[in-house]
Amino acid sequence: MDLNSLKKQISDISSRSKHVFDAASSKPELDDIYRSFLGKKGEVNILLKSLGSLPQDKRKDAGLLLNKLKEELESLYTSTSQTLIALVNSERLAKDSVDVTLPGFQSYKGSLHPVSQTIKEISDFFERMGFDIETGPEAEIDYYNFEALNVPKDHPAKDMHDTFYLSNSGLLRTHTSPVQIRTMEKSEPPHRIICPGKVYRKDSDLTHTPMFHQIEGLVVEKDASFAQLKGLLNDFLEDFFGEKVELRFRPSYFPFTEPSAEADIRWKKNWLEVLGCGMVHPNVLEGVGVDTKEYSGFAFGLGVERMAMLKYDIPDLRAFFENDLRFLKQF
Ligand code: PHE
Repeated sequence: MDLNSLKKQISDISSRSKHVFDAASSKPELDDIYRSFLGKKGEVNILLKSLGSLPQDKRKDAGLLLNKLKEELESLYTSTSQTLIALVNSERLAKDSVDVTLPGFQSYKGSLHPVSQTIKEISDFFERMGFDIETGPEAEIDYYNFEALNVPKDHPAKDMHDTFYLSNSGLLRTHTSPVQIRTMEKSEPPHRIICPGKVYRKDSDLTHTPMFHQIEGLVVEKDASFAQLKGLLNDFLEDFFGEKVELRFRPSYFPFTEPSAEADIRWKKNWLEVLGCGMVHPNVLEGVGVDTKEYSGFAFGLGVERMAMLKYDIPDLRAFFENDLRFLKQF
């Protein structure tokens, strides 16, 4: 080996190395390339070992040249590795980046069911009028649902109710009126309460469902009158619908009120029955120990779904219970 051929090999490595390092596409690949030049068995080391075969006076120059080559390769390695790291980072960034201009997923806020909303609106009005809110069990016994409400055992009036029976005396309440009795049993008059809740009847068509909601109202005071009842219901309906409504009272019959009436509201061309009401029957008051010489009372029972149908213009009552989101989302 002579100095010239060594120089040739050095310049060959130098020019080749640029392309080889450039072509590295990953850090491990780059490290392999580094070793192929500068490792123990790398090309530069082989040349170093061959220095001994050069004439004595050429060795120093040859050593300098080889050191220069080494430095060149080292700095090539460093710069290539920096480029590679930058490239990997920017690729990762590109992959992980979020395009904030893409449309998002729409999420829907939950909202109150129209029945709950209606109960809330109605309760709000009566609370403003000084009424307390009471509740009672949906699984009742005959005594509260019928007997204490002046419906004797085996009375034909029970047929009006299409009752779901649970056991001998257990039943699903057919109206919220049992809460009148429970309220008067546990506290002394005066009373001014409403009771919203579920009631059950064997009934199902366009305007009836086997479960529906009522709001019971009860006022027991020194001189509660039918005129007061009518005035209160009028005020309530105007507040609820936000405008004058056509309301008509029809004489009716309930065993627990005397006199009794039903009230209809004009809906499109028809009259729709929305509530029953009347003066609390003396038998009912006396049954729970209220002195009828001192107190009188009136009561009413409102159909919640009926009220919501009218207010929101929903033609089929069953829509309230199907829980079709397309329907519910409109409220
Ligand atoms: N409970 C009666 C019904 O469900 C309504 C009503 C309540 C009537 C209070 C008079 C007084 O039909």
